[in-house]
Amino acid sequence: MTTSVSKATSAVRASIESDTQHGAVVPPMHLSSNYTFAGFGEPRQYDYTRSGNPTRDALGDALTELEGGAGAIVTASGMGALTVLTQFLCPGDTIIAPHDCYGGTYRLFEQQSQKGLFNVEFVNQTELDTLRNVCREVQPKIILTESPSNPVLRISDLAGIREIASECGALFAVDNTFLSPALQNPIEFGADLVIHSTTKYINGHSDVVGGAIIAATEELAEQCAYWANVIGITGAPFDSFMTLRGIRTLHPRIRQHEENAALVARVLSEQDSVAKVHYPGLDDHPGHELARKQQRGFGGMVSFEIEGGEAAVRAFLANLRLFSLAESLGGVESLVCHPASMTHAPVSEERKAAAGVTPTLIRLSVGLEAAEDLVADLLAGLEAAATAPRLEVVAI
Ligand SMILES: Cc1ncc(COP(=O)(O)O)c(C=O)c1O
Repeated sequence: MTTSVSKATSAVRASIESDTQHGAVVPPMHLSSNYTFAGFGEPRQYDYTRSGNPTRDALGDALTELEGGAGAIVTASGMGALTVLTQFLCPGDTIIAPHDCYGGTYRLFEQQSQKGLFNVEFVNQTELDTLRNVCREVQPKIILTESPSNPVLRISDLAGIREIASECGALFAVDNTFLSPALQNPIEFGADLVIHSTTKYINGHSDVVGGAIIAATEELAEQCAYWANVIGITGAPFDSFMTLRGIRTLHPRIRQHEENAALVARVLSEQDSVAKVHYPGLDDHPGHELARKQQRGFGGMVSFEIEGGEAAVRAFLANLRLFSLAESLGGVESLVCHPASMTHAPVSEERKAAAGVTPTLIRLSVGLEAAEDLVADLLAGLEAAATAPRLEVVAI
């Protein structure tokens, strides 16, 4: 795809009309696990699907274009992409991760560091001075940032972190899952690597688990491709085909997710039964100005603290009709999640408290249903929560 068209056009047109055999408008799916050699010592472009596959490459090319990178490696999951990232580390090396990162990321780094594969430091990356001091002390090999973070949507200063990474010679990787390339391109701010759980907005229909790592340079892309093949973590052709189909509608989907989320966040912030709303689009969000600077929108994720303790959480969740209680995010349908017991269950209680993942925190992935229906559903849930009998602590 030429660069003279907008990214929204590139997303729709990714690999359209690329079939030279039959002129299919949409490229065919190549499920074959292997490819013939033209003759002895004459391999073709593809030999074995773990190492390379035309359908997966079509998705990789689309992601490279959308993130403005030099190459992309499509993996079997977002965790697969993060596992590729860890291949840059040797025993004794340190990776710095956000103190409020996705629970699965926390578990991967914590477990592997306990085995001595590398060291990990979890740092609040919204505080650049703290990050700089830790970096001076541990001289990290990689700084991984998640902005907005999962689940409390903290915004970290990508350009500021790039500077710190350069000072200590670290690779700078950004997990861009929460915004997708439609709303943020970390490579523009100096990221070396961009990570996605394509399971989320990029596929967008909750029917594929996948991931990707997009590199700013060809050399890094080659290293990622090498390791993804070595450890056998590349994505399946069928999943790639589905995700490429999802990408075509990414931009209009994201626009609608955001419009609905902005309304939901505003309505929630007006309710007495809601103690705090986390949405970077709200003027009083601590990362609002930074988000305006480095993002092209505020996204479709909202989290909030409900008043009334566990009884309120239970009543709220039990009384929703349109928000499905489920892990994951970024699909067309609205989802609700209780991070402390679901996405962030692998995180220790102490770290959950430090990250702001409280027992009364609720995370919404605001979908594409009619906004007025979503608002009515949430208000009904909040009303049920407000009248739920409080659990009484009885002294024995
Ligand atoms: C920010 C973030 N990164 C990575 C992942 C892992 O992705 P996957 O579930 O596709 O392995 C998730 C999953 O929720 C996530 O939210």
